[in-house]
Amino acid sequence: MRLGLKRQVTLATAIAVLGTTGLAIAAAPEIAAAIAARKANYKEIGGDMKTISDEIKTGAPDLASVRPAARDLVNRASGQLKYFPAGSGPESGEKTRAKAAIWTDYTTFSTAQSDMLIAAKALQIATDGGDLASMTAARNTLGNACKACHDKFRELE
Ligand code: HEC
Repeated sequence: MRLGLKRQVTLATAIAVLGTTGLAIAAAPEIAAAIAARKANYKEIGGDMKTISDEIKTGAPDLASVRPAARDLVNRASGQLKYFPAGSGPESGEKTRAKAAIWTDYTTFSTAQSDMLIAAKALQIATDGGDLASMTAARNTLGNACKACHDKFRELE
């Protein structure tokens, strides 16, 4: 009988704790922060990509501007995965274009992320070299890596 009461109390406590945790998850600030951080990071990656593409278009890219952009892109690409914690998809209630498929097919998603990193590193090597044809080819490969992931894992709007 004493044990029975203890169990009841334990159960009531568990329910109370679960209730609190449930509320905390719904409003988890670290989830909102991760979503904000990944959007900001992708935005900077997009800016780097634009800088490099605009320079390539001139036919005589300014190496002083494409080199730091390529380096920044590599740094940002290498840190991007950590901004996709479980629970930061559409179910978070936050404004995000990340599809639920990211977490149900995480292997494909993380491979797409490393494909971007590999392509970004190749672009950095090409900008270090400074040859226009190599930079153009590396930029195109990287652009395809962006598109491959967006087509599969990002909502249109
Ligand atoms: C592995 C998948 C993946 C790769 C690779 C990827 N992206 Fe994205 N990108 C996403 C997802 C998912 C979002 C939506 C993020 C969100 O809304 O939470 C996004 C959002 C963006 C955004 C919008 C950010 C904002 O302000 O909301 C830009 C710009 C962007 N990506 C550019 C790029 C560029 C440029 C590349 C390639 C150099 C790239 N992305 C590579 C998955 C990817």
